[in-house]
Amino acid sequence: MPDDRFTVSFLPEGKSVRVRSGTTLLTAARSAGVHIPVRCEGKMGCLMCKVTLNSVESGVLPPAEGERRKLGGSLEQGVRLACQAKVCGEVTVTTPEDPLKRAVRLQLERQKQADEDFWG
Ligand code: FES
Repeated sequence: MPDDRFTVSFLPEGKSVRVRSGTTLLTAARSAGVHIPVRCEGKMGCLMCKVTLNSVESGVLPPAEGERRKLGGSLEQGVRLACQAKVCGEVTVTTPEDPLKRAVRLQLERQKQADEDFWG
């Protein structure tokens, strides 16, 4: 019997999970313990679940009309809605940076730059 399970890997978390073909990336992320914050729970209302495929020719099914309309040109950059994109092969995706972690990282970068400017 053919195995219909595929590995989905998440960056930058470095976590992966094996899921059945047809599983959404959002469900796979939750199974892997990767947090993707959402508000609409898969109704294509919040657009907070955007992830980037590391290869556009990757192991997810092509977008349906609704997802295509929501994402427009960013589809060409490999952006997909995790709640809609369904696994059909091995795939690696990059998840968005947590807003709090991003704020801390930017603050640290600004502080480092200020220190370098001051001390030379
Ligand atoms: S979960 Fe809201 S658009 Fe995907």
